[in-house]
Amino acid sequence: MKRRSITIIAALILALAVASLAFAEANARKGKFLYRSKCRTCHGAAASDLSPNSKTQADWKKTFAKVESIKCYKDWKGVSAEDRADIFAYLHDYAKDSPSPAKCN
Ligand code: HEC
Repeated sequence: MKRRSITIIAALILALAVASLAFAEANARKGKFLYRSKCRTCHGAAASDLSPNSKTQADWKKTFAKVESIKCYKDWKGVSAEDRADIFAYLHDYAKDSPSPAKCN
């Protein structure tokens, strides 16, 4: 009986850990919304028509590893670190070589 309750408690702790991980994970859907409102104002208009499918996943990783060196970084107004992670998730998950490449309309 005692062993069984220990197993149940362990399972509960594991379930909680998995749930909190899911919450912490970057959100590509939110990233799409953010990219449209914070980046597409220029990209596709005054700046290059940048979409997830403009780059490979490796290229997006490289680009976001050094965001400060992106030409327009100083123009990223009101983009928090969390927003940035979400935008990266969107661009990366729908990259040219991803299972579902996408153009941002
Ligand atoms: C005020 C206008 C403006 C905003 C807002 C803006 N950019 Fe840019 N961005 C530019 C310009 C201008 C360039 C340099 C020339 C070009 O690529 O058109 C550039 C270049 C870039 C590049 C390098 C070009 C490449 O092909 O690798 C990336 C990546 C980039 N922007 C991403 C973003 C992201 C992500 C956001 C939103 C968080 C954003 N930009 C918001 C104007 C902007």
